[in-house]
Amino acid sequence: MTDPRPIGVFDSGVGGLTVLREILRRTPDESTIYFGDNARAPYGTRPDEEVRTFSVQSIDLLVERDVKAVVVACNTSTAIALGDLRRRYDLPILGVIRPGATSAALATRNRRVGVIGTPATIRSHAYFTAIKDENPAVEVYEHATPTFVPMVEAGLLSGPEVEASVREALAPLLGERNASGEFIFPMPASARIDALLLGCTHYPLLREVIAAVAGEGIAIVDSAAATASALAELLSINALEAPAGAATHLQLTTGDVAAFRSIAERMFGEAFPDVAGVEIAAVAR
Ligand code: DGL
Repeated sequence: MTDPRPIGVFDSGVGGLTVLREILRRTPDESTIYFGDNARAPYGTRPDEEVRTFSVQSIDLLVERDVKAVVVACNTSTAIALGDLRRRYDLPILGVIRPGATSAALATRNRRVGVIGTPATIRSHAYFTAIKDENPAVEVYEHATPTFVPMVEAGLLSGPEVEASVREALAPLLGERNASGEFIFPMPASARIDALLLGCTHYPLLREVIAAVAGEGIAIVDSAAATASALAELLSINALEAPAGAATHLQLTTGDVAAFRSIAERMFGEAFPDVAGVEIAAVAR
């Protein structure tokens, strides 16, 4: 049995396209509808109640378009709202935190994992709990890096200023302060994390800088590939796989269509014709 209906992919904005990219790679026969709530992004600095409300409204929109499953590509939304979303809808809902946590727990050798994310994601301790579930022996060091999302949104992905900013933001995870308050790099090997989980949709776009700052011996892990694999398994288990060769893709945004398309084209390196706008009044009902 096959099911040609699309997969719904939701994010607060464009960052979830990093997850969509992996989904297209892993399950190329699947149709997708991506919804980015750009008009109300960022979510990561909002109170939990608002994140819940916006997430429900966004996924209502996807469900009305008859998706067969939903991937919540937004870490903040997954961290705060996944339970509510699963109670609300009958269809399978997949978040990014469990898959990412599993990858991180498998990537560490010294059982010390660093997690970076938005303030809301870190405040929820969702990654801490998920990694501990996977392997209770792993020490999890969570750290909010609120400067990264605005940097990516502004198109700043590399260069000396970005590197300086990333270095400063990661210092509490990677280094220690001297008596004058300056950070000393690197920490003694015995105290270092050896895996750093990028717990936010936007951070894979800073991956090269983050890897350079983290240096040798720290595996950089993100949720995108693991989530796409979990989706493939979910579709197979539920007999929801699409027939071959008929995939279509649509991207919807509550924000500026031209801006969305331009970022998407930079990320995918190809034309992104199927972007349409959605009035925020149609979502926030
Ligand atoms: N999509 C969000 C996340 O993965 C990052 C952007 C935001 O704060 O809305 O946490």
